[in-house]
Amino acid sequence: MQNLDQLEQTALADIAAAADNDALEAIRIRLLGKKGVLTGLMRSLGAMSPQERKTAGPALNGLKARLGEALAQAREALEARALEARLASETQDITLPARDEAAGRVHPVSQVIDEITEIFADMGFSVAEGPDIEEDFYNFTALNIPPEHPARQMHDTFYLPPDGDGERKVLRTHTSPVQIRTMLKHKPPIRIIAPGRTFRCDSDQTHTPMFHQVEGLWIDKSTHMGHLKGCLEAFAKAFFEIDHVKMRFRPSYFPFTEPSAEVDIGCSRTGGALRIGEGDDWLEILGCGMVNPRVLAHVGIDPEEYQGFAFGMGIDRIAMLKYGIPDLRAFFDSDLRWLRHYGFAALDVPTLGGGLSR
Ligand code: PHE
Repeated sequence: MQNLDQLEQTALADIAAAADNDALEAIRIRLLGKKGVLTGLMRSLGAMSPQERKTAGPALNGLKARLGEALAQAREALEARALEARLASETQDITLPARDEAAGRVHPVSQVIDEITEIFADMGFSVAEGPDIEEDFYNFTALNIPPEHPARQMHDTFYLPPDGDGERKVLRTHTSPVQIRTMLKHKPPIRIIAPGRTFRCDSDQTHTPMFHQVEGLWIDKSTHMGHLKGCLEAFAKAFFEIDHVKMRFRPSYFPFTEPSAEVDIGCSRTGGALRIGEGDDWLEILGCGMVNPRVLAHVGIDPEEYQGFAFGMGIDRIAMLKYGIPDLRAFFDSDLRWLRHYGFAALDVPTLGGGLSR
């Protein structure tokens, strides 16, 4: 027993003196490893008389437990010390001045899409998407625009070269194909908006070959034209952040809505700047109407049971109106000076609660 006491004292002193994990591990192997001192002693129990074993057994087990405990504690202490040393060496001076704002800004179109989404989400719309390269079926046929229909010419369509089976895909000329994709996938009630890129072969101060639209679709059993008007007026007030928005609904024609209307927003264009809500000028911002029963039937929705409205709004147009941007073409020039002037800071996230614009 004298021996064991001595062994314990030396072992504990060694453990306390270990400078790092490697040293500690070497001590552990020397004591408790396969060929360790203590392991050897434990093994010698087998050769003892039962009488001897009765005292030596518990003594050895106790020693083994105490040394194991001491090793674990020493390891913890070493790790804590290492962590402290690391924390002390890796400090950062948070009193340093911040870097200049990054050179890029959020494009007005992205910002306006976020504003639109925020407003319509509040009315219960969710966001749907479709591809930019679209099949003729979704862009035209399913929307009640059969081949040879004059509306196809109206759209100044970009066609892709024919694929293997002679089918020509198109760059979608509007976001309306997302109506079809949504109605084929989901049963009514349906309430979606679909913002995205659209393409037409056209270019002047208010037209670019690529532009943006947001589609809206609301299908249930009793929605009528009054709801459409109320919805769009509520949107315009929230978007332009004014109580009275001059809006004009003009009767129009779209093959996929009946009746149809186009909507203009009152504006003025004096001095090269577009201003919303004043003056006697009008800017067309959207087409809309009650979804044509033929379109519903085409996607397997019973027009006797369901009805609803759809609209397609020009995002770039309302961005120009809201932020007084005179020329649409500059939107897509990638001129950093323009973006610094009209763009938004990355953290200017529009919310109804916090305010939509700056
Ligand atoms: N897709 C039409 C356009 O681009 C707009 C529209 C959408 C009209 C939905 C009616 C309903 O001109």
